[in-house]
Amino acid sequence: MQAEWVEFPPALQRKFGKMGEWDYHPCTPECEKKNEQREWELMRRDARVENLQDKSGLSKRMRNYTFANFKPFVSPGATKAAEKVEEYLKNWKENREAGNGLYLGGGVGTGKTHLAVAVMNELIQRERVPSLFVTVPELLDNLRGAYNDPGKNLDEWMEAVKNADLLILDDLGSEKATLWVQERLFVIINHRYRETLPTVITSNTAPRDLGGQLGERTASRIFAMCTGVELEGSDYRETAARDSAGGDRGPGKR
Ligand SMILES: Nc1ncnc2c1ncn2[C@@H]1O[C@H](COP(=O)(O)OP(=O)(O)O)[C@@H](O)[C@H]1O
Ligand SMILES: [Mg+2]
Repeated sequence: MQAEWVEFPPALQRKFGKMGEWDYHPCTPECEKKNEQREWELMRRDARVENLQDKSGLSKRMRNYTFANFKPFVSPGATKAAEKVEEYLKNWKENREAGNGLYLGGGVGTGKTHLAVAVMNELIQRERVPSLFVTVPELLDNLRGAYNDPGKNLDEWMEAVKNADLLILDDLGSEKATLWVQERLFVIINHRYRETLPTVITSNTAPRDLGGQLGERTASRIFAMCTGVELEGSDYRETAARDSAGGDRGPGKR
């Protein structure tokens, strides 16, 4: 026997004085098939999420970065940033359509990467969005490697960076941008801008310094497509280390 909860429409709820009732019915071959299909669909969904996670470029540690374990009250900056980022997530459909992203700026250890990755984890699990996480210094290293060694082929990977439905560029602007670096980054940003693909950026560079660092063409496209989120506050790693050392200067203090 199968049981299904049937909720009454409001008029019937008033008439019978209850919200609904259990509908017991024997499981016909047809409903068995339905259950099987549902199970199959759930399995396929899980497999797809796993597959997306494998291709996401996220480290094991980062797969645990979620909203649930982000403490919003460590600083006023973190509170406001978490709100803004959750708002972004809530409006994902429109943001995706318009190619809107986020620019998470602020000092070291303020939670920029954590929040960016929390968005990505959520979108992979909930919406199964093909996403890619890339650290910019590593990206540039790889590109330099391929430039110096034509045997290395990055075409497929670069296609993924340019076309991922959601891309995180972590630590943008953390190194001196030569003209060559500026040009490589422009190609990626410009492509994503033109194709309205959402990009979430984390950076130590204040927005006003971005043009000087990356060139105005790249900076202006970033401003056009990313909402700024400022994370000010102290380094969470140091604060956490101090707290766990009983309030004085713990081993985490450099
Ligand atoms: N508000 C917070 N709540 C919980 N963990 C945090 C918070 N802010 C930072 N962290 C943790 O501190 C570490 C450093 O944060 P991270 O996001 O890498 O900083 P950033 O990218 O700004 O340098 C990470 O392990 C992260 O999970
Ligand atoms: Mg970071």
